[in-house]
Amino acid sequence: MMHRLVAEATRRSRAAPATMATGGAAGGERWMSSAAGSKGRLEGKIALITGGASGLGKAAAHEFIQEGAQAVVLADINSKLGLQTAHELGPNAHFVHCDVAAEDSVAAAVDAAVARHGRLDVMLNSAGVVGPLSPGTSQIASLDFAQFDAVMSVNVRGTLAGIKHAARAMLQAPAPDAGAGAGGSILCMASISGILGGLGTYPYSVSKFAIAGIVKAAAAELSRHGVRVNCISPYAVPTPMVVDQFSAMLGGAADEAQVAAIIRGLGELKGATCEAVDIARAAVYLASDDAKYVSGHNLVVDGGFTSYKRMNLPFPTKPHE
Ligand SMILES: NC(=O)c1ccc[n+]([C@@H]2O[C@H](COP(=O)([O-])OP(=O)(O)OC[C@H]3O[C@@H](n4cnc5c(N)ncnc54)[C@H](O)[C@@H]3O)[C@@H](O)[C@H]2O)c1
Repeated sequence: MMHRLVAEATRRSRAAPATMATGGAAGGERWMSSAAGSKGRLEGKIALITGGASGLGKAAAHEFIQEGAQAVVLADINSKLGLQTAHELGPNAHFVHCDVAAEDSVAAAVDAAVARHGRLDVMLNSAGVVGPLSPGTSQIASLDFAQFDAVMSVNVRGTLAGIKHAARAMLQAPAPDAGAGAGGSILCMASISGILGGLGTYPYSVSKFAIAGIVKAAAAELSRHGVRVNCISPYAVPTPMVVDQFSAMLGGAADEAQVAAIIRGLGELKGATCEAVDIARAAVYLASDDAKYVSGHNLVVDGGFTSYKRMNLPFPTKPHE
């Protein structure tokens, strides 16, 4: 079974054209685009990314810089990795330590960004955790509220704190050349686990359903101040978080590269795999003036996965010509 999964996933990844260069990370994680455009869509912007040390946050930081961002502040609980990522991304990136579960820490990270750069244009709340996979997280009759609270404190309270303090900074200091919708862009990472049930544990799934709701609630208030609030719901991307999770589910039966191939092989869209750069480009769009009239939106990047369900017909069908 395991061999079949790996073989099928490998066949599908080979069939899909590579859309970008490969950056070094878990399971051959692909997070870089190949080249920057001549004029970036985020020219001169100041951005703060929680969870920016790794995975989707790191990929977004890279794209933001490619698109001309003046500064990208990586706010992460993992100082060692955060410093390393900032170094890797170059002089436009720098790191501040931040635990999103502690509101003071989020406030301090936002204040540090504003003190250093004068304002905040873009806030991406990417920090998140999945929590353990156990009966306490996957069976409602055994739900462990300590584990539930631990995930909610990072994914939901952490995101709320990020929105709160980004809004505080953006409302205090609107960009001097602010045009329509240019008061700031706040982005959050939701998930396909917040669209359909059964894709994640209870804590994770509930936390991601909450994010899409928080985004609408905050957009309702902040639209009137020219601040846009949106979220992205990614499909599975083999970042360290997801590779670790699948490795645990597979009980160590596959190495990192095999696990990444399995994750890439899960998609529905023929000819493509979901990569960190696809999520990063969605973040660039929502952060940029290309999305200047988009607020309260949940941009689902899943190759159509959550859009349909096929009937399990009790007779063979032929695909339409
Ligand atoms: N990778 C996917 O397939 C996927 C799919 C849907 C949604 N997401 C969401 O995207 C976001 C990023 O996940 P990822 O896949 O890049 O994972 P990742 O583990 O690679 O990155 C998460 C980052 O968040 C940081 N972090 C964790 N707890 C923190 C805290 N309390 N304070 C500050 N930083 C903290 C980690 O140190 C890490 O750098 C998460 O919110 C996740 O739920 C990921």
